[in-house]
Amino acid sequence: MNFSGKQVVVTGGTGALGTEVVAGLLRAGARCIIPYRSDTEAQRFAHRGDPNMTLVTVSDLADETQVAKLYAGMTPWASIHIAGGFAPGTVAATDKAALMAQIDGNLVSSFLCCRAAVNAMKAGGQEGRIVNVASRQALEWRSGAGMAAYTIAKAGVATLTITLAEEVAKDNILVNAVAPSIMDTAANRAAMPKADFGTWPKVEEVAATILFLASPDNRVTRGAVVPVYGKF
Ligand SMILES: NC(=O)c1ccc[n+]([C@@H]2O[C@H](COP(=O)([O-])OP(=O)(O)OC[C@H]3O[C@@H](n4cnc5c(N)ncnc54)[C@H](OP(=O)(O)O)[C@@H]3O)[C@@H](O)[C@H]2O)c1
Repeated sequence: MNFSGKQVVVTGGTGALGTEVVAGLLRAGARCIIPYRSDTEAQRFAHRGDPNMTLVTVSDLADETQVAKLYAGMTPWASIHIAGGFAPGTVAATDKAALMAQIDGNLVSSFLCCRAAVNAMKAGGQEGRIVNVASRQALEWRSGAGMAAYTIAKAGVATLTITLAEEVAKDNILVNAVAPSIMDTAANRAAMPKADFGTWPKVEEVAATILFLASPDNRVTRGAVVPVYGKF
C-alpha cells in the first residue's frame, strides 16, 4: 500500500490499536496527524519523534470546537477514527452520566470527526477515505447484553458509517468501519488473564484491515462494517 505524502488523521493513534495503525501508515509513507489527550501515553508513544508524525493535544474529541480546530486548514487524504472506550454495565446499573460518557467517547467523537473530515476533503476538492471503529456488539446486539451503553454507542458508529457512506459516495469519499471482537492488547490480557489469547485478533491484524480501507488501493468498498474477529 502506498500512502506516499498523503496526510492522514488518526484519532486514538497513541492507543493500543492506534499505535499499530500509525506504524503501518508511516511505513507506507503517510504524514500522520495524531490528536492525543494523555501526556503519559504521548510520552511513551512508539513513534514519538518521527518527522512524518505530528502529535496535537486535544482534550476531548466529543467537543465540537476542539474538533473543528483540529481539522482547520487541513486537506486529509484519510481520517481514521479509533478513539473510544469501553465500560460494562447492564441497563439497570447504568445512569445517564455513564450512558452519555459512552455515547460521547465512541459515537459523538466519531460523528464530529467524520463531519470535519468530509468538509475538509470536499473543500480541498479531492477524494478521500474515512474509517471508523465499531465493535462486534455493533453487529450482534444480543452479545451486548451487560454492556448496553457501549453497544448502543458502537451500533451508532455503524449506522453513522453506512449513512455517511451513502451521502458522500458521489464526492469520491469512501466511508467504512471495522468491528473488532476482543483484541489481543495488554489491557485485555490484564483484565482477562485466564482467556485464550490466541483466539483474539491481534492489533496488527485489525490495523491491516483499517489500512486497506483507508488506502488508495480501496477503489470500491464503501458502507461496510467489516468484522475483524479472529477465532473468538
Ligand atoms: N480493545 C478491544 O478489545 C476492542 C474491541 C472492540 C472495539 N474496540 C475499539 O477499538 C478502539 C481502540 O481500542 P484500544 O484497545 O486501542 O483502546 P485504547 O488503547 O484505550 O486507545 C483509545 C484511545 O482513544 C483515546 N480517546 C478515547 N476517548 C477519547 C476522547 N473523547 N477524546 C480524545 N481521545 C479519546 C484514548 O485516550 P485516553 O487513553 O486518554 O483514554 C486512547 O488514546 C476503541 O474505539 C475501542 O472501543 C476495542
